[in-house]
Amino acid sequence: APARSNILVLPGDGIGPEAMAEVDKIIAWTNAEGLTAIETDVDLVGGAAYDDHGQAISDAAMEKALAADAVLFGAVGGPKWDDVPYDARPEAGLLRLRKDLALFANLRPAICYPALASASSLKPELVEGLDILIVRELTGGVYFGEPKEVVTLENGEQRAVDTQVYTTHEIDRIARVAFELARTRSNQVCSMEKRNVMRSGVLWNKVVTATHADFQDVELSHMLADAGGMQLVRAPKQFDVIVTDNLFGDMLSDVAAMLTGSLGMLPSASLGAEDATTGKRKAMYEPVHGSAPDIAGQGKANPIAMVASFAMMLRYSLGMADLATQVETAIANVLDAGIRTGDIAGSGITPVSTSQMGDALLAEVQKVV
Ligand code: NAI
Ligand code: MG
Repeated sequence: APARSNILVLPGDGIGPEAMAEVDKIIAWTNAEGLTAIETDVDLVGGAAYDDHGQAISDAAMEKALAADAVLFGAVGGPKWDDVPYDARPEAGLLRLRKDLALFANLRPAICYPALASASSLKPELVEGLDILIVRELTGGVYFGEPKEVVTLENGEQRAVDTQVYTTHEIDRIARVAFELARTRSNQVCSMEKRNVMRSGVLWNKVVTATHADFQDVELSHMLADAGGMQLVRAPKQFDVIVTDNLFGDMLSDVAAMLTGSLGMLPSASLGAEDATTGKRKAMYEPVHGSAPDIAGQGKANPIAMVASFAMMLRYSLGMADLATQVETAIANVLDAGIRTGDIAGSGITPVSTSQMGDALLAEVQKVV
């Protein structure tokens, strides 16, 4: 029998709950079949939580998040909450989760499903079969380093300062995540920094190389981050896992996203440190897209990013890599069959609704499992 697991489900606002409903269908079936034993606890986050109790996430929900095997997050925000106090704005719920769970490793896969290769910004042959994983350091670097300030100089000019800071420990732990993930994939890590112009880049390079001693079976290469950006659009299939800092990772993961087409297709995972006693990592899984207020409530949302986020949860938090691959195969098969929501339909295909896409995904999961 599969190991029992407890996940906290936070559907959020806008299309978040609509996409999450399609994941619920899959969990209900895998549980009924005895393939999984997932207990779900559902709570409010974002604008929905603010409307209920005035905070973007309650302390009780945070406690559940800390105790759960993983958090599955939909999306938050929307024009309805534009004027709420800054500390209670919907995004504050997401930021508190990331901070309190100490999610320092952000995983953004860029997978190009063959049926969507023509939707890429690149030529189809450059991206068909693409499967790369960007591992971005999420809690350090120039977004958080001190000093961070704007000062007015004697001559009246202003001077703004952001500081890139990384410690050996921060670099070592993100490198370990990248090497461990590479072992479950094609065993290659490319580390990107700017050691030619940044002290932190020199340290990054040195620490990643030192950490690699514990992962001799994984192939390690280094690239300057600007050259890496160039290579990502020139020949993206050369990469397997890319590990990089917070700022470069922010930009490179958005570049990689556009190699594969729509926002409605992109999942992500954020991982924290391993628990010393259980060996388990805190983790949150969420689509890259937001709450899409322009299409919310109309049954138009593409649930694939949400379902693919669930697949990542199966793989990285619940130890069910095979089932994760089967869910991803189901996604590919549904796309191959020409079933499309509006965001990926292109011309000549009549789009299906969110729930029709979810039903098609479930039917395909039932076939491939
Ligand atoms: P968005 O990702 O919500 O939407 C951008 C565009 O992509 C829209 O035209 C939308 O209809 C489309 N889109 C997004 N996901 C889709 C899907 N699954 N299926 C079909 N089409 C999809 O970003 P936007 O418009 O900048 O932000 C809307 C709200 O979401 C804002 O309140 C923003 O703060 C919030 N947001 C929340 C995030 C989160 O919860 N992690 C991330 C990004 C934005
Ligand atoms: Mg970004």
